[in-house]
Amino acid sequence: MTTESLDRVRMRELFDLRGSYNELTGGHYDGDPYPTWHRLREEGPVHPGTVHELTGRPETLYFQGLPFPDRPHFSAFSYDACMEAFRDPAVFASSPEAVDADPEAGSLGHQSMLSMGGVQHRRYRGLVQPSFLPSNAEWWMKNWIEETVHLLVDGFAGDGHAELNVDFCAAIPVLTITGSFGIPMEQALDIRAALTRDHQKIIDILTPVVAARRAEPRDDLISILVQAELTDEAGVAQRLTDEEIYTFSLLLLAAGSGTTWKQMGTTITALLQRPDVLNAVREDRKLLRPAIEETLRWMPTDPMFSRWVTEDIEFHGQRIPKGAVMHLCVAAANRDPARWDSPDEFDIMRPLKSTLAFGQGSHICLGMHVARGEMTAGINALLDRLPGLRLDPDAEPPSFVGMYERGATAIPVLFDVK
Ligand code: HEM
Repeated sequence: MTTESLDRVRMRELFDLRGSYNELTGGHYDGDPYPTWHRLREEGPVHPGTVHELTGRPETLYFQGLPFPDRPHFSAFSYDACMEAFRDPAVFASSPEAVDADPEAGSLGHQSMLSMGGVQHRRYRGLVQPSFLPSNAEWWMKNWIEETVHLLVDGFAGDGHAELNVDFCAAIPVLTITGSFGIPMEQALDIRAALTRDHQKIIDILTPVVAARRAEPRDDLISILVQAELTDEAGVAQRLTDEEIYTFSLLLLAAGSGTTWKQMGTTITALLQRPDVLNAVREDRKLLRPAIEETLRWMPTDPMFSRWVTEDIEFHGQRIPKGAVMHLCVAAANRDPARWDSPDEFDIMRPLKSTLAFGQGSHICLGMHVARGEMTAGINALLDRLPGLRLDPDAEPPSFVGMYERGATAIPVLFDVK
């Protein structure tokens, strides 16, 4: 197998943070938001307004919890405030209206688990959780991640130069998650393109795969979904409907194909910008894990998640009315000096403490161990196979861009060809 079928031009279009596919989340923002977030946090942990408005960007942007023009918005910038909200789903709900099972249909149909709460959420999440536990990391590695990573490196290892953001970082997660759904490489980019624009197209691609796995299950994620049984309050077990499978699939495809790309690019960029740190990691691979965790703290790819406030409350000095949207600026929380010394410094030797990059509480990222596995396998392969890996001094250096989806621009590198 090769990666010939990956159309590079299309990849560049789909995975350009400043391109049309990402403009709604503020892909053009190229400032450094952290000084403003520090100032805001010093003035008070919680402020009226959205994160982008408070950062000086008045345009309408779209992300989880945005836009909701008819509701009051608040944003939290301290670690404690964000943590408290993540841990209190009764007051800080994951959807604007309570998500209840439709008793008529007997299923949740198009609602994804990201917006569910309570028992409902536990049931749905419990269906796929076993596939995402650390103990299952080997299943992902052996079935999809390792092969993808090495095929991609094969594509440029003989050239002495490469662009790592799109040709490497973007390709790994999209091929891993579509591979786990039994979708051939030729269709992986159709899925990615349709994620923001045309869900029906994805359903059209998934329909024959779901039918095939219902007839004959295989060792993949879509087979797990078609065989999964949801037990209702009365203890009656039922298979998921096709609609529920598509909803699950859309969430997993979206969450699994866009985030790790940017986080891996940020990690690689942070290391390439610090050749001594890169060298230390190359020499002692035990440092790769702290390097990945430090990047998740220092620059998480999704800086904000939202919650909907279910009752009038007093929260960290602000009166918040029922119905308000609370934006949790996890990126600011991850640099809260109350929790981390010299928080703006990228320091892979700092004591390991949990961060909010993957959220917290009951909705904590389901795919975090897969994401870590992809980043570990990807960066290890680069360090093993590309001696002398360094930024290309004659090309435009990578920089970090994006408001609600942050990541690196192109990462042009040189290396020695054996
Ligand atoms: C570095 C990469 C990633 C980051 C930074 C990230 C971040 C997050 C965060 C912050 C949440 C919580 C959202 C909330 O509380 O409202 C979340 C949820 C979720 N993530 Fe990730 N994610 C990443 C990769 C992945 C991957 C690779 C997958 C799947 C293969 C995935 C699947 C999910 C799912 C299904 C949820 C919803 C969980 C629930 O509602 O219970 N994520 N992610």
